[in-house]
Amino acid sequence: MDTTAFLAVLKKVFSVQEMTKPTDFRFDPLPDVQGKTAPKVQRLLQLGVRCLPPEECYFEVGTFQGKTLISAALFNEDKHLAACDDFSEFTDDPAAALDVLRRNINLHCPPHQFIDFHMADFRHVLREERLPPIGFYFNDGAHDYASQFDGLTHVEDHLADEALVLVDDWRFTPDSRSHARQATLDAIARSKRKWELIYELPARFNGDAAMWWNGLGLLRTWVSSPSA
Ligand SMILES: C[S@@+](CC[C@H](N)C(=O)[O-])C[C@H]1O[C@@H](n2cnc3c(N)ncnc32)[C@H](O)[C@@H]1O
Repeated sequence: MDTTAFLAVLKKVFSVQEMTKPTDFRFDPLPDVQGKTAPKVQRLLQLGVRCLPPEECYFEVGTFQGKTLISAALFNEDKHLAACDDFSEFTDDPAAALDVLRRNINLHCPPHQFIDFHMADFRHVLREERLPPIGFYFNDGAHDYASQFDGLTHVEDHLADEALVLVDDWRFTPDSRSHARQATLDAIARSKRKWELIYELPARFNGDAAMWWNGLGLLRTWVSSPSA
């Protein structure tokens, strides 16, 4: 993905005020879909997928009921989206959770829009499945250190030469106890690729709908050099 072009679009859509402070940017295009995300995150996902070239895909770890996945898909019918969830959290009935996800996708995405969903651990999907190069990766799985670290290391061989990486639950505080930030920084320090942490998008608490839910890390990564 041309991450420089994406960042130019992002700056047009979000003012500095909207990036860094609580704002009235509260429009949720999917009010009937339950989820752990905020309207600003939903918009960022949709803009990122919009910037994907045809040969690359979006890949999401941790869909829950599909709020972030469907937000990424909105008005992006021509894009390739893939995702996984093993439904190890927030449900004791994975089959019922899959039904809810499928119902939400069918309700909000046109029938011709293909979303390649895998009900499985992300490590298995990234080891076994053939995916197009991932130009935009969203890591929104479990918060423990190993899951966050593996979420970065296992995806590395699938990433496009230049890719955007968004990591949710960036804040480590008592209300979230997410190791996302530290595990991501440790994983990229060991990576063969080049990385840039572009933004740490803030939240005041876990579930901050006027900000970035539980905080996000927005990174880009490349093999040779990022687009000018
Ligand atoms: C914070 S929720 C995701 C929220 C979601 N993106 C939304 O739009 O509401 C985290 C999800 O990651 C899933 N998960 C946890 N560990 C996983 C793993 N190892 N592989 C795949 N999914 C996993 C959980 O089942 C849970 O649904």
